[in-house]
Amino acid sequence: MSSTFAFTVHPRARLGEDLARIWSPLARVPDSVYDTALRRLPLPPVTMAGIDIGGEHVGHVVLVPYGARHLLGSPGEGRARVHRAVDKARALGCDVVGLGALTATVTAGGVSLRSRTDIGVTNGNAFTAAIVDDQARRLLRSAVDHAADPHVAIVGATGSVGAAVTRLLARDRAAARLTLVARATGRLDALAAEVGSQVPTTTSTTMDAVATADLVILLTASADALLGAQHLAPGAVVLDATQPRNTSPSLLDERPDVLVVDGGVVDIPSLRLVGGNIGLPDGRSYACFAETALLALTGHRGHFSIGVPTVELVDRTRGMAADLAHLGFRAAEPTTFGRPVTLGRAVAANRLGTTVGTTRGTNVGAALELAS
Ligand SMILES: NC(=O)c1ccc[n+]([C@@H]2O[C@H](COP(=O)([O-])OP(=O)(O)OC[C@H]3O[C@@H](n4cnc5c(N)ncnc54)[C@H](OP(=O)(O)O)[C@@H]3O)[C@@H](O)[C@H]2O)c1
Repeated sequence: MSSTFAFTVHPRARLGEDLARIWSPLARVPDSVYDTALRRLPLPPVTMAGIDIGGEHVGHVVLVPYGARHLLGSPGEGRARVHRAVDKARALGCDVVGLGALTATVTAGGVSLRSRTDIGVTNGNAFTAAIVDDQARRLLRSAVDHAADPHVAIVGATGSVGAAVTRLLARDRAAARLTLVARATGRLDALAAEVGSQVPTTTSTTMDAVATADLVILLTASADALLGAQHLAPGAVVLDATQPRNTSPSLLDERPDVLVVDGGVVDIPSLRLVGGNIGLPDGRSYACFAETALLALTGHRGHFSIGVPTVELVDRTRGMAADLAHLGFRAAEPTTFGRPVTLGRAVAANRLGTTVGTTRGTNVGAALELAS
């Protein structure tokens, strides 16, 4: 028996742009005004949109009125506001709540909500790991140079999604070599020791370490564009699943040889948000949202993915998605900053005509054709 769910979101780095998704005139207010108001005023959570799937009302999007920089800069207050949003979800009658974007990070992947018994909590990161893994494998098959011997860098590797994706790629040696990047060395070293027996693995606390990677997977929790043109190998492929984005669209102009693919996006063709949007067109959702929908539609009760999801939990979400395949729940066709792209190595040589300073001689990189 299915149930209803809530999904928590927050304004990302450009506050006005995201708040205008609730009411378009809000775009006219300068970001500095929002910054002060959101930081200082004890604003309650807002029901931002209703959620319909398959023509049925299945839940609500609940906005936490605190921006990405606020959440990362004042995690205690951020956590309190997320907890109030979860109260709101329960008051709306929801049985399960999914923690979108940095609402997961400030609650330690939902650990601070584990004691709640009135509502099931998930960080959505098990299905996100499944989708990012699927997308990464597709890129390794069809877009990455050195396809037989790929070097994959995972930035944010020790996080909730990052650690699960690292274990998935190491499990059957989908990557020939792994570079794991984060700031704290203790967790990095522990993860590298674990997966290093399956795949040669190195670690780093600086972004410079991705300079020889064929595929860079971004899974950091940051409000800034951490990955720049200067960090990437000629013809590198980037899978960016971060929210807010840790790549800037200017990367495409600065490095036309590089392919940036949007990560963690799922097709649910009958999905409609009623009264607002969260930055994706009808029929598409973020993977963490999709996990919460899977739980509600399959009648799951209780918590699901808290902290770092296990590989077994990731596989369970694949099973749920297979059971609901008539509703979609597959990785979306590839896009770059929301625009469709066609993958393939065949036309890569054309793009490489525009690049200089290759350090790997025969690098043909990934092909990028804007399909619209
Ligand atoms: N598309 C989707 O559906 C979807 C779903 C879930 C999550 N996400 C996004 O995925 C990202 C990760 O989420 P999460 O829940 O896994 O976050 P998390 O558990 O907080 O992990 C964040 C990771 O990033 C690292 N990190 C943070 N700041 C960094 C920096 N400046 N430089 C290098 N590493 C840094 C952290 O390690 P250190 O603290 O040691 O640096 C950690 O490894 C977020 O952007 C989130 O919004 C997207």
